[in-house]
Amino acid sequence: MSGLLALLPVYAAAQDADAGREIARRWCTACHVVERTATEAPANGLPTFPAIAARVDLSSDQLRAAINPQHSRMPDLALSKRQQDDLIAYIFSLRAR
Ligand code: HEC
Repeated sequence: MSGLLALLPVYAAAQDADAGREIARRWCTACHVVERTATEAPANGLPTFPAIAARVDLSSDQLRAAINPQHSRMPDLALSKRQQDDLIAYIFSLRAR
């Protein structure tokens, strides 16, 4: 895990959608479609990130809870608060504008 953290570039912004995208590609693609451009979903029935982002009533607090193992069936990915912030920024960046 510390090796991964060393590979992640350090960003000044509090939330960084680009960093979140990198984290999503590394850690979330095993189970979720994480790209807006993806044309097919894995046959596991799990929500894609664009589909999650499209839910208008979704708040960042709900997203944080969803990626937190205490609150869902997701595996414990041991994400830092900063990585969670970046992931949330990335998922919201997938919202249609
Ligand atoms: C090992 C498979 C697996 C991986 C890897 C995984 N997830 Fe999930 N994810 C799940 C499952 C299973 C659910 C359904 C959880 C539930 O219903 O409690 C889920 C649900 C979610 C939800 C909630 C969707 C909803 O319908 O409310 C979000 C958000 C989410 N995952 C984000 C992520 C993010 C971000 C990552 C990468 C850091 C990730 N997941 C990696 C299996 C995974």
